[in-house]
Amino acid sequence: MDLKSAIDITRLPSHVAIIMDGNGRWAKQKGFERNVGHQNGVVALSEIVEVASELGIKYLTLYAFSTENWNRPKEEVDALMSLLVETIHKETDRLIENDLRLMAIGDLKSLPDKCHQQLQDTINKTSLNKKTTLVLALSYSSKWEILNAVKAISKDINDGKLDIDNISYEIFSSYLTTASIPDPELLIRTSGEMRISNFLLLQIAYSELYFTDVLWPDFRKEQFYKAIIDFQKRERRFGKTSEQLSNNND
Ligand code: IPE
Ligand code: IPE
Ligand code: MG
Repeated sequence: MDLKSAIDITRLPSHVAIIMDGNGRWAKQKGFERNVGHQNGVVALSEIVEVASELGIKYLTLYAFSTENWNRPKEEVDALMSLLVETIHKETDRLIENDLRLMAIGDLKSLPDKCHQQLQDTINKTSLNKKTTLVLALSYSSKWEILNAVKAISKDINDGKLDIDNISYEIFSSYLTTASIPDPELLIRTSGEMRISNFLLLQIAYSELYFTDVLWPDFRKEQFYKAIIDFQKRERRFGKTSEQLSNNND
């Protein structure tokens, strides 16, 4: 059966986050340089953005570069940054045509100027778009994000803008880089690694996790459909019992 038709479009996750992993191994398996893997990773990225938007998924967050990725060899980091500028530049018109909004989370100031400028330019040009929001996590890590949130909250307390007794989780989360973004309902990681690698640690507190051995450049439309179908089979209980859910008994 056609996988797409097995998806219940009335029960789509409104936010899917993806740890796009395995570009290097994909290239190595084929006898190419790692960067060829990254280039093919961009092809997969474009396809998944298009498919997610076509389905009607409201938010798609892609982990593109972690704080820890700065520790890779300089040539690889430089190549990734160039690929980023080039890709965003090339994709801007398509984002606009398809009503996609670009956002970015992470320590964006640490990106090379050219990269930061291109990102900001496309973010501005697409800021009023409504169909799907594409969030790129760049120079992002949860530990960095949480530490920053704690510093900003402490400053507001010191400045008398915030009262400690009034800090709820909602207020705390408004200091995170994802403040305006709902938590992901589905987190996908490709390449067979069973770890989170410092990604959205708080935001995935109740996300459904989906791991696949498929390497990111091979993660295409059909793999994405499979992940959504798997998600739709899960029972999301949020601490309740199965019986409570089937009885609709709050
Ligand atoms: C993911 O692929 C892309 C980035 C982290 C930028 P990798 O480059 O981590 O690929 P592997 O894990 O070495 O195969
Ligand atoms: C996680 O992939 C970061 C991104 C996908 C951008 P890595 O390949 O850097 O993860 P680890 O370090 O192997 O966990
Ligand atoms: Mg990796």
